[in-house]
Amino acid sequence: MSGMKSDVKLIDESGKRIDGRLFNEMRPIKIEAGILERADGSAYIEWGNNKIIAAVFGPREIYPKHIQDPSKAVLRARYNMAAFSVDERKKPGPDRRSVELSLVISNALSSVVFLEQYPRTAIDVFIEVLQADAGTRIAGLTAASVALADAGIPMKDLIAGCAVGKVENTIVLDLNKDEDNYGQADMPVAIIPRTKEIVLFQMDGDMDYQEIKNGLNMALDASMKVYEIEKEALKNKYIKLAGGDSDE
Ligand code: CDP
Repeated sequence: MSGMKSDVKLIDESGKRIDGRLFNEMRPIKIEAGILERADGSAYIEWGNNKIIAAVFGPREIYPKHIQDPSKAVLRARYNMAAFSVDERKKPGPDRRSVELSLVISNALSSVVFLEQYPRTAIDVFIEVLQADAGTRIAGLTAASVALADAGIPMKDLIAGCAVGKVENTIVLDLNKDEDNYGQADMPVAIIPRTKEIVLFQMDGDMDYQEIKNGLNMALDASMKVYEIEKEALKNKYIKLAGGDSDE
């Protein structure tokens, strides 16, 4: 939904964005792992004004049976927005956007999970967006990756990411809803932190080669910060389980 023209001033004379951030600042992120009793793994993330829950079930028997793969597990992520998560009530149920987001998130997660260890099974990942403020695919993917680790599913690494975009001809990190609506471009990026492989890369709007290069570097730096927060969330869960003090 980028690319709309508008008179809204998104960056002021001192370089501050509408929520007071500088061009290279991320919104605050909080992650909690292991929040749901009935899921095999779960996580809750607050990323700016985004609030999202991820729940993992499996590896488990796969239905419908005919989609099973004799050589590996099938990882299915389902991205869903609650009707009350956006300004204008979202019609419940899947739509084109959620089908696309579910697919790119499934692909990204499949690149880190050792699927071949669980042939003929399903690993189901539910991402429920409770409150949306742009950047939900990356925030959802972040929560899902922590939830997979929380489920004890063997993985190469977590996945971490951040979106960048273009607002008033400036490349900025981690667009909020107004910046996404009235800005010129939005480019979500996610990586495997250890190898820096890119596992999700999309763009809505227009950026030239140099802008994409700058933006990508900003997104990579930010992803490494997200990675630290993810690991901290997992560590905190085990400190709690052991009955020790966590940061809270
Ligand atoms: O959330 P993300 O930036 O990954 O995806 P997007 O398609 O670029 O959507 C940007 C934002 O638009 C969402 O995070 C929501 O805040 C908002 N949105 C909305 O208000 N109503 C919808 N039906 C879909 C998205």
